[in-house]
Amino acid sequence: MAKEKKAKANTLSNDYGASMDRIVSLCKRRGFVYPSSEIYGGLSATWDYGPLGVELKKNIQEAWWKDMVRRHDNIVGIDAAIMMHPRTWEASGHVENFTDPLVDCKKCKTRFREDHLDEKALADKVCPECGGELTEPRQFNLMFTTHMGPVEDSGSVIYLRPETAQGIFVNFKNVVDTSRVQIPFGIAQVGKAFRNEITTKNFIFRTCEFEQMEMQYFVKPGNEDEAFDDWKSKRMAWYIDRLGISPQRLRFTEHGPDELAHYAKVAFDIEYEYPFGWQELEGVHSRTDYDLRRHGEFSGKEINYLDPADNSRFVPYVIETSSGLTRSVLVTLMDAYHEEKIGVDKKGNDDIRTVLHFHPDIAPVMVAVLPLVKKDGLAELAKKIEKDLREDFSTFYDQGGAIGRRYRRMDEIGTPFCVTVDYDSKEDETVTMRFRDSMEQIRIPIDGLAERIRREIRSYKRV
Ligand code: GAP
Repeated sequence: MAKEKKAKANTLSNDYGASMDRIVSLCKRRGFVYPSSEIYGGLSATWDYGPLGVELKKNIQEAWWKDMVRRHDNIVGIDAAIMMHPRTWEASGHVENFTDPLVDCKKCKTRFREDHLDEKALADKVCPECGGELTEPRQFNLMFTTHMGPVEDSGSVIYLRPETAQGIFVNFKNVVDTSRVQIPFGIAQVGKAFRNEITTKNFIFRTCEFEQMEMQYFVKPGNEDEAFDDWKSKRMAWYIDRLGISPQRLRFTEHGPDELAHYAKVAFDIEYEYPFGWQELEGVHSRTDYDLRRHGEFSGKEINYLDPADNSRFVPYVIETSSGLTRSVLVTLMDAYHEEKIGVDKKGNDDIRTVLHFHPDIAPVMVAVLPLVKKDGLAELAKKIEKDLREDFSTFYDQGGAIGRRYRRMDEIGTPFCVTVDYDSKEDETVTMRFRDSMEQIRIPIDGLAERIRREIRSYKRV
């Protein structure tokens, strides 16, 4: 980033305890995330993405797809149907095992996941909300069911997929037969998944409808440990380098023997330090040959791989990287959110700006173009500059209000660069480029503006 006129902002507060509510409020106010079906009072645990939220989500998804699929010549993508043959979920073990222990409060009727209760509530069997008596736990399957066809009987039950992974496993043979992949290779997929979660607080952290970005990496049995270590470190680096997440707020946690999913040999979570504590952001799992073997057994069509290198035939082992897209949106927002003291106002009060320090690659708006005033041809020149920049960047044009206020509006939605057109621009064909993080301003020629922005994005380092 350029050095001119450095005006480094102080970090006033990134106290998550105080700011979680503010993030929810900013998301609503600026069009990132709205409560779903709000005009009917909302539907718990479902959220809608507004104009800025959908751009942020798409940018994260595209960064993932580019890095996982386009930049690996041995990883291909698919897009499988959400509704799958019901036998899929018997084979995968979800019908039998995808359950959470549910307890109810006999007094206030609130429902809890038993494994989410604190030690005291667990020991005393009392409700953490009202102190009422809790019921004995019962297993509750998280899969949503619906019916396919006109008759709603047991024969027409199908499930909304609770993970995207199974769409990959059932297509393993199709992909091997129709593309040139050879082991080791990966199949990636991004899409919606659905879970009838018992507890769904914390905004978009745990919702009933969410999106996953999953990749299944198929290896020769015996090579899974090396591939596991490799993907584990690659995935951690991705959040830091690509999404710009603070490394000190990320860590690995290994699943203990009693926490392992029914398919896993080893599993690590990449965890983030949310305002409500360390929790999962992505799972990296060593899934053995469990899924391919089971689909072979349940479908009656054995699934295996003929290795052209040595003519051996085997059922591949699988390393899975399973990231939550919507959860990544939350982490990106929370990690980027800062309130910073940047001076003192006329009344002697602290002047505080709210800023989202998004990595420029994923910012919903990369460049805002602002005429200093609307008149004297400045708006026309600014509109032309914005139109030219649109080819390469997501842009926004804003001509309303004092320039300082417009900068603040852009800071609040995380726009890394503002370009201001003033009277000198007409004379000498230069504009002011203003940097979100440092708030520095430099004068640069209009010609070459796009190249300069590209350079700034390439060399971006978060403050
Ligand atoms: N295929 C493996 C699998 O689904 P998981 O740990 O259950 O593993 C992977 O889920 C990721 O999906 C989680 O790390 C999280 O980011 C996201 N995820 C899971 N349940 C979610 C929910 N109810 N709401 C939002 N994201 C969720």
